[in-house]
Amino acid sequence: MCGIVAYVGDKMAYPILIKGLQRLEYRGYDSAGIALLNSGIHTYKCLGKVNDLEMHAKGEPLSGTIGMGHTRWATHGEPSDANAHPHTSMNGKFTLVHNGIIENYAHLKKELELRGYQFRSDTDTEVLVNLIENIYLEQNVCAEIAVRLALSKVVGAYGLVISCADEQNQLIAARKGSPLVIGVGDKEYYLGSDASPIIEYTDRVIYLNDEDVAIITKDDLVLKNIQNDALKPKIQKIELTIDKINKGDYEHYMLKEIHEQPTSIGDTFRGRIAIDKSKIFLGGITDVMPKLTQAKRIIIAACGTSWHAAMVGEYLFEEFARLPVEVEYASEFRYRNPVITPDDVLIAISQSGETADTLAAIKMAKEKGATILGICNVVGSSIPRETDAGVYTHAGPEIGVASTKAFTSQVTVLAMMAFMLGRKRGSMYDQLYKELIQELTLVPEKIVSILKSESYIKEIAEKYKDATNSLYLGRGYLFPVALEGALKLKEISYIHAEGYPAAEMKHGPIALIDENMPVFVLATKDKSYEKIVSNIQEVKARSGKVIAIVTEGDETIKQLADHVIEVPDSHEAIAPLLTVVPLQIISYYIAVMRGCNVDQPRNLAKSVTVE
Ligand code: G6P
Repeated sequence: MCGIVAYVGDKMAYPILIKGLQRLEYRGYDSAGIALLNSGIHTYKCLGKVNDLEMHAKGEPLSGTIGMGHTRWATHGEPSDANAHPHTSMNGKFTLVHNGIIENYAHLKKELELRGYQFRSDTDTEVLVNLIENIYLEQNVCAEIAVRLALSKVVGAYGLVISCADEQNQLIAARKGSPLVIGVGDKEYYLGSDASPIIEYTDRVIYLNDEDVAIITKDDLVLKNIQNDALKPKIQKIELTIDKINKGDYEHYMLKEIHEQPTSIGDTFRGRIAIDKSKIFLGGITDVMPKLTQAKRIIIAACGTSWHAAMVGEYLFEEFARLPVEVEYASEFRYRNPVITPDDVLIAISQSGETADTLAAIKMAKEKGATILGICNVVGSSIPRETDAGVYTHAGPEIGVASTKAFTSQVTVLAMMAFMLGRKRGSMYDQLYKELIQELTLVPEKIVSILKSESYIKEIAEKYKDATNSLYLGRGYLFPVALEGALKLKEISYIHAEGYPAAEMKHGPIALIDENMPVFVLATKDKSYEKIVSNIQEVKARSGKVIAIVTEGDETIKQLADHVIEVPDSHEAIAPLLTVVPLQIISYYIAVMRGCNVDQPRNLAKSVTVE
């Protein structure tokens, strides 16, 4: 998981690359580097962020109208100057930037060492660049052929941009498993791991498919596959605009994205709910609706926050569509030998649409004959292209590494799907269907009212910012929210946090509770309200500090808890969309108060395109 940007044209490449890297930094921020082609290849790279790279390159010759850049999230080899990209081959013929993992690198490295190659870094990427050079020199072929021959020996995933010192007017780009987008300008081309470094210059893009190779000069783009079959580039128009990827007046993307939720959820159901609120229409899954209606089982596969949304989906589908659901960690599912039949529907949930494990889960379920649906945010990403049908969340670009608005949009889509399916399968009365649609449409304004409590929530954050452990408890629909709240806190503040079904607390976590332990309890009025009140009493009896998320006007819990944060009343199936918001805010402020880098938490990356 890394960010790649490149440029070929008449403009100076350096500022385009730096700006592009800043936009891509959310994909990885261990080290950064650039290479500029200008009578030779000039590479500048260092440990640290893009700002460090700018300092490092200051005063160096930075001209050149062709170049590439990279921001890294370390996989092979610790973050260091030497392991930073771009990597250059031993004899200086090739330079490349790479996103992905070359799985057979050890074997390839041994072969190259036997041929006299020496390595300066611990990366799999350096093996690849030397492999290309070795083929180029030994077989006396042009750069493009050397690249294609090398890639045919590679097992693993890659998004690559490559330059050859002998063919300095061109860049070669290739993809397998790691995304690459080419922006088409007027006598110029831009490349990016996603469209964010491109949209400032052009809205015409080509998404590379697996095993595509593009040979790019400022005047021409030739597309082929690694077997050398010519391909016709498909130029598409992208909707993404620059204001959507700016931080605006917010200090962090995460805070901006928390605040965007009334709008992003509105965007998720825009055009999908009839004006009279009597009907849901999800155009992306119309064709597979008969299959979905008759499915024997739904499997939902995802990772991270998307997996928490999947769990909410399980409760929704079971309750309203009366369908058995299994929620799977994609990384586990793909390596088991699960029983999957053509009567199953697999729903893959992913903000980025690029998570390697989720993609692999899709491929496996597809081979076993299941129908595959996707719920993704990034339009044109890999997962939507692998699925039979799907629904985009339309939450807009999510840049903060800790997912917020993507989660609420995923849950919104799952709710719409479950209600629609419930109606189609006859397991839901029309009146309830309409009531729930009405409830969904009220979510944006209810979140607006929750956001008004931000400064009050910040005061609570102040009280618990020095905690070392914390517990999140919920029941039913709010158990996945407890998991998500705990994940948010640990991701960005590095406080240990565990989410638990409230009743399970007695089977272990209760032993941890003392006067230093903040316990966040999701306790809105639903069918398990009385039980959760008892759980709060159990925590208080052990001197734990209770921060309860309650329904507006709840007087009972106010008497018991140390703090209550109120959310507007709603049907319990809708409550995850509301109750998660105070937990996002509390994590955000605790992390800020602890001086943590909220948008770029240590060791994490926005999307994990490697196993
Ligand atoms: C990473 C991110 C998480 C995200 C997870 C799944 O771990 O840091 O925020 O939930 O990947 O990503 P996806 O793009 O598939 O939803």
